[in-house]
Amino acid sequence: MLTAEENRTLTLTGLGTPMGDVFRCYWMPALLSRELPAPDCPPVRLRLLGEDFVAFRDTDGRVGIVEPHCSHRGASLFFGRNEGCGLRCVYHGWKFDVHGNCIDLPTLPDDVAERVRPRAAIRALTVAEWGDVVWAYLGDGDAPELPQFEFATVPQSHRYVSKKLQQCNWAQAVEGGIDTAHFSYLHAGVENGVKVSLLQALGSRPLQPGENEPPSVASFRWMANDGMPHFDVIEHDAGLVLAASRKTDGADLYYRVTQFLMPNHSLAPGSWPGGNQLGNTWVPIDDHSCWIFCYAWNPERPLTADERARWEKGSGIFPAMDADFAPRRNRANDYLIDREQQRRSTYTGIEGISEQDAAIADSQGLIADRTRELLGQTDLGIVRFRQMMFGAVEARAAGKPPHGLRAAAAYRLRSGDTLARPDAKVVDVLDARFGEQWGVGAAR
Ligand code: FES
Ligand SMILES: [Fe+2]
Repeated sequence: MLTAEENRTLTLTGLGTPMGDVFRCYWMPALLSRELPAPDCPPVRLRLLGEDFVAFRDTDGRVGIVEPHCSHRGASLFFGRNEGCGLRCVYHGWKFDVHGNCIDLPTLPDDVAERVRPRAAIRALTVAEWGDVVWAYLGDGDAPELPQFEFATVPQSHRYVSKKLQQCNWAQAVEGGIDTAHFSYLHAGVENGVKVSLLQALGSRPLQPGENEPPSVASFRWMANDGMPHFDVIEHDAGLVLAASRKTDGADLYYRVTQFLMPNHSLAPGSWPGGNQLGNTWVPIDDHSCWIFCYAWNPERPLTADERARWEKGSGIFPAMDADFAPRRNRANDYLIDREQQRRSTYTGIEGISEQDAAIADSQGLIADRTRELLGQTDLGIVRFRQMMFGAVEARAAGKPPHGLRAAAAYRLRSGDTLARPDAKVVDVLDARFGEQWGVGAAR
């Protein structure tokens, strides 16, 4: 439970807010590279942390993210002409490059233009294009090193990157991402009125005699059966690793391992060795909505055409969406909840894992009221996340770098699932699953 003041501190990221100051220390995914598909393509409007911008790709392919209003008389540069290495205001023709420099002032005589030019520059963010994502740094001074996420370092054929609109505050959506306890209910199935594995409810093929059930399939049953996973949370240089262990059919425990990486990223559980990795970044648009950037990648092989087609259509963390990245199932239509389906096959009656997550995060309110909640052991990750965010606010106020800012290399991590003996120490479980190169050890 938080006080009302703490809840505001955690959630609000506008200009001049304590958490807004923290966010402005880090790189933020601003848009997908494919939203600016070619040199001199149409500019796009952009809202980040409550601030408005226009983004464009110039003739040389460089991306600029600039304040939206022309310095002459404030016309919107969204309507500008993207031509000849700059964005030209269509009102009277002033022109700006990707750094915000005013490179043409055709309404003024040359000598006056030269005098006015320095004052005519507009704000431009520091921008980097990396991993098919346009990253922006909204802070003052020099940007830090880019966090070394694996998805951005693998060959392009190994990754699929998208984004989706979430219609609530960023922090409760992050809390949903790192709260892996909820899979036992929110993503469960129903059969004859009884909660069962999602796979069973969706009609998975029954095991044949003598056939071994792979843990990737059995895990859905273990999740449905054990709604009280035990959480261990370990701090590392980039954030937190959260290990949730559940009972299995035998003596071993089933571990789902999630990474929280400062200030707004997570790597999702659910993958087994050799499988695809999944990650998310929650970027506040304003205090009541955020973009969730979603990454899928395989460290060992290119993604298949089938996998890409499935994600484009909507599967797993990727919802079915309109062309503007708005999920088809959303606040306005109650996520197309089907009460008959809720009675007969899925716990929520809402189709899609991503849609179930979105619905329930939105349902907590535009900003969840954390003055009224009752947290228990399965919420340990949430508690540690909030503590880390408050620690970052304190560090920033004291003029120190917040957690993870100077640890770009420590973001080179993986998440995933494993089985372990019940007496195994969590650090040993993590080492055995991820190895030194990708485990917690690598992040310290
Ligand atoms: S307002 Fe942009 S050139 Fe006049
Ligand atoms: Fe979920």
